[in-house]
Amino acid sequence: MPTPLIIDTDPGVDDAVALMLALHSPEVELVAVTASFGNIAVEGTARNARRLMALAGRSDVPVAVGAARPLVHHSPGWAAEWHGADGLGGRGDGFPEPPPGDSRTALALTAEILRSADEPVTIASIGPLTNTALLLAAHPELTDRIGRIVVMGGGLSGGNFTAAAEFNVIADPEAAQRVFTQAEVPVTMVPLDLTMRVLADTAWLATLEAAGPRSAQLRGVLELYREAFRERYDVDAVAIHDAVAVLEAIVPGTLGTTPMPVQVACDFGPARGATVPDRRRGAEGPRVHVALDADVDAVLAEILERVSRLG
Ligand code: BDR
Ligand code: CA
Repeated sequence: MPTPLIIDTDPGVDDAVALMLALHSPEVELVAVTASFGNIAVEGTARNARRLMALAGRSDVPVAVGAARPLVHHSPGWAAEWHGADGLGGRGDGFPEPPPGDSRTALALTAEILRSADEPVTIASIGPLTNTALLLAAHPELTDRIGRIVVMGGGLSGGNFTAAAEFNVIADPEAAQRVFTQAEVPVTMVPLDLTMRVLADTAWLATLEAAGPRSAQLRGVLELYREAFRERYDVDAVAIHDAVAVLEAIVPGTLGTTPMPVQVACDFGPARGATVPDRRRGAEGPRVHVALDADVDAVLAEILERVSRLG
């Protein structure tokens, strides 16, 4: 029986790869996609999620609209310089107009799925953690229906949005703190320390492009992101952050994890949004399973093979 999977996301070009990965993995059944503000505003991320489901011929997967803003403070800004103003690298117009989304809120849809689930549901959180924090806060009675939460977010040695903070965490630090410091549901955190090593290079992108017209469209979505990587990091390759986390959600144990308490800096100093690990022996608090190890070439090959099934 495939594991039921909900992806909470803000597509987002690496989110796009992650969604295609889940749709083409028999180990899981993608039962819902919930959208959040993040790379662009939530109306846009929800639309992009529906566009991507339509591209894969899977408009049967419900897509619900979630948080439009962080829990407490204002959003620190979007990530359009990486993902394009439309969140799909400026290529969103090339997608067919998708059918309307689910009329339930992300919270209502997720709660309904959990309530009726016969087996534990995995949640992959690959955008700001607002929807996931709201779920944990609003439905403590459903936490035992969640098998695990796999988060793409954070960094133990610095950030990509500020010197200290990774984008998904600084987008809503209070929400991230809520998710990382609770003990009810096991959390795996896939930080920048690992995802910045999983670089899809020109050969990877060319293989994706050659896999068929829909794969070529997905490849096109990554071009602006590739230019941003070239400019910012001086590499001709892109980090497919969210796909790495979703692969771990699909095939548990793909990544090597180390358990440790993780706190999020929620003050307004230069460290806001930093994820602070406690590596001391006997450190107190719930452990987050932080993914720091992987066979990077194998992860890249696995993602490419599966996403190429899009054809
Ligand atoms: C994360 O931030 C977003 O821009 C990406 O989609 C990914 O989820 C990487 O820091
Ligand atoms: Ca994302």
